[in-house]
Amino acid sequence: MNVNGKHYKTIWLEGSTVMMLDQNALPFEFKIFESRNYKETCLAIITMITRGAGAIGAAAGFAMAQAFLEAGKKQGMQVSDFGMRVEDWVFIDAARKEIEATRPTARNLFHATEIVYESGKESIQSAINKAQQLADDNIADAMKIGEFGNALIHDGSRIMTHCNAGWLGFVDYGSALAPIYIAHREGKKFHVYADETRPRSQGARLTAWELYNEGVSHTIVPDNAGAYLMSKGMIDFIIVGADRIAANGDTANKIGTFEKAIVAKEFGVPFYVAAPLSTFDMATANGSLIPIEQRSEDEVHYQEGPDSEGKIHKIRVSSPGSSALNPAFDVTPASFIKGIITERGIIPPTIEAIRKVMEG
Ligand code: MRU
Repeated sequence: MNVNGKHYKTIWLEGSTVMMLDQNALPFEFKIFESRNYKETCLAIITMITRGAGAIGAAAGFAMAQAFLEAGKKQGMQVSDFGMRVEDWVFIDAARKEIEATRPTARNLFHATEIVYESGKESIQSAINKAQQLADDNIADAMKIGEFGNALIHDGSRIMTHCNAGWLGFVDYGSALAPIYIAHREGKKFHVYADETRPRSQGARLTAWELYNEGVSHTIVPDNAGAYLMSKGMIDFIIVGADRIAANGDTANKIGTFEKAIVAKEFGVPFYVAAPLSTFDMATANGSLIPIEQRSEDEVHYQEGPDSEGKIHKIRVSSPGSSALNPAFDVTPASFIKGIITERGIIPPTIEAIRKVMEG
């Protein structure tokens, strides 16, 4: 991602410190959060300093590697030493549980934690290498998704997206926005409608900020404008990301995605999901089994932003005394999805196609 002409990843490892762009501060302030141990990385995931399925996966992998480093340090071990003493495995297993408890829906978190944990059985260095490799794969997968999805975009295309499945939701490039960046760099002229994505406004704050930085023509639209835009023939297709895709193609993504898919079906607008294979969960047969995170009602009651001097304020935007419900994700049934854009091509959302692509 280019910010003021400098390239940044969303998240990276420096020694034993996980560095991440602070997504709670964006787009009003650009700052980097440094997480020095696995507990701080867990907190960064919970508080959404880092967020989005791909970035959460990278963070979880790094957190697991940090736990191995911390366990090794307590024993005065070298990173290349093999094996851990029994009490260290108690520490490691507790750390794994803590990492997995940070956020329940994004499959990438569990995928990365498990892979790094297994590598750590060999040595601390293997855990670090594996976490780094997962972060590198995350970028490579996003670029391939971008290349396959680019075929859908033509001069004049009008594309809608929901939430933020861009650079910030991954280590770089993103899933839903990767085709948009590749098409833009190829010189195609098109327009993106970014749903604002209440309550945390990832579309209005993060997707819009990314598209602006990259110079992509775009407009922020309220979440409830989808039916209006689609009924007027103003949207050619929709691309969203995914937090978890069940074995039958049912897809969990940011709350409000399912509503877009229903409206898209009503008006014949193709609805695509973009996600790497690390988001697929073959152990979950269908979408009804995907755990849906419930977040604080304060995210509904309060909004924040800068005043004219740039000072950030948090203000209440709902009637005091009322309660709120804040499910963070919903599940779009496979029958609403035209295709899933993966790093191995665009596939139909069927159990057979998913099995085949997972087998390579
Ligand atoms: O709650 P978030 O911001 O972590 O939500 C995840 C998402 O960004 C979206 O659902 C996204 O489309 C998934 S892919 C980055």
